[in-house]
Amino acid sequence: MAGESEFHLFFYGCNYFDSFTVHSTMKVGTPLSPNAIKVMLLGSGELGKEVVIELQRLGVETIAVDRYENAPAQQVAHRFHVIDMTDAKALRALIEKERPHIVVPEIEAIATDELVRIEDDKLATIIPTAFAVHTTMNRERIRRLAAEDLKLPTSPYAFASSLEELQAAIDSGIGFPSFVKPVMSSSGKGQTKLKSQADVAKAWDKALTAGRVKQPRVIVEGEIQFDFEITLLTVRAKDGTHFCEPVGHVQIDGDYVESWQPQVMSRAALAKAHHIAHAVTARLGGLGIFGVELFVKGDEVWFSEISPRPHDTGLVTLVSQYQSEFALHARAILGLPVSTALKSPGASAVIYGGLEEKGIAFEGVPEALADPQTELRLFGKPESFKKRRMGVALACGNDTKDARERAKTAAARVRPVSARP
Ligand SMILES: Nc1ncnc2c1ncn2[C@@H]1O[C@H](COP(=O)(O)OP(=O)(O)OP(=O)(O)O)[C@@H](O)[C@H]1O
Ligand SMILES: [Mg+2]
Repeated sequence: MAGESEFHLFFYGCNYFDSFTVHSTMKVGTPLSPNAIKVMLLGSGELGKEVVIELQRLGVETIAVDRYENAPAQQVAHRFHVIDMTDAKALRALIEKERPHIVVPEIEAIATDELVRIEDDKLATIIPTAFAVHTTMNRERIRRLAAEDLKLPTSPYAFASSLEELQAAIDSGIGFPSFVKPVMSSSGKGQTKLKSQADVAKAWDKALTAGRVKQPRVIVEGEIQFDFEITLLTVRAKDGTHFCEPVGHVQIDGDYVESWQPQVMSRAALAKAHHIAHAVTARLGGLGIFGVELFVKGDEVWFSEISPRPHDTGLVTLVSQYQSEFALHARAILGLPVSTALKSPGASAVIYGGLEEKGIAFEGVPEALADPQTELRLFGKPESFKKRRMGVALACGNDTKDARERAKTAAARVRPVSARP
């Protein structure tokens, strides 16, 4: 297996992460042969599906892992596995069995302690780094890193492990309005916006039921009254750090419903956004794309949180950039050149399931695609929930207003329907 050992040499022998000096004679092998470059995704949702497609296009062998069968990325990967990724033993056993060169976490709910050990044992390269994945899965770790170590501006915050501690944090300055979030959760799960004292106990109870761990812990954050919020997609590639144009987005109940690119902002605010994104991603290290979530008001910018992977609001880049965030991720982790250039103003609008059923159908697809500037991604999720993201409409436009209208129109035309007779 000469090709495989060569690849190992190139990844581990050349200080891959520290120096960004990926070997210029890197070879791409043939998938399903001994010299294949093997990439394993942990999490196989719609974002992973696009990453797999990009890796496949570059001749990489792909293995998609999730906790349920027929997840979107599993449908396009060379093969797939179903395991509980929070189970350290199961995760280790699978990585030892498959021996991927590169492991790409696609979700937060993974046994990240084990990923740290896997990286230490040089069993596989973790994207972007095991430290980044471990730090960002917990709001407390990443908030302390950004605000306390890097001294970046954030909302006022405190942590609490009981209702009493939560009350004390609110009383001692966080006040109202504020947000309570389990330290281990995503997509708005277990989150409450507190308007007054009447909401405190309810928020604590909600956080308890939705957090990923048994030991309850929440962050409570004072509200930032921003003009708009952005995702600054930031790529750490072998030749340095690259920024995409800012992605603007609208969130409802902590879940994104609409995004567009570029979001116009002042030069001063953009410079601050770049500074914040550069500082956080440099500390987290490694190669790949990050979604840096920022709040913007005039020339002021606050760090909110960060994904060390493609970001859902960045789905818009499938139409608005020459290299989508998924292509950028694939290229960056392989040590290939990247370009973050904008192709056209664009927008995305989410298509929710709207019903609770397995194997649903979609009507209105021809109407949605009647506009030639519009595209759809129907993710192929085997089961629909009312608030499950089942697809997205994408559109290019003369400007973001035009693109947003086209994307929203197309999304509204797609109607999830029951497949029951
Ligand atoms: N301190 C805050 N001030 C103002 N708005 C906030 C604050 N915290 C959260 N929000 C709003 O709630 C949204 C979701 O918050 P956050 O990103 O922390 O949660 P999340 O569960 O990680 O969501 P996602 O996984 O969709 O990014 C933010 O995008 C923002 O619109
Ligand atoms: Mg967020």
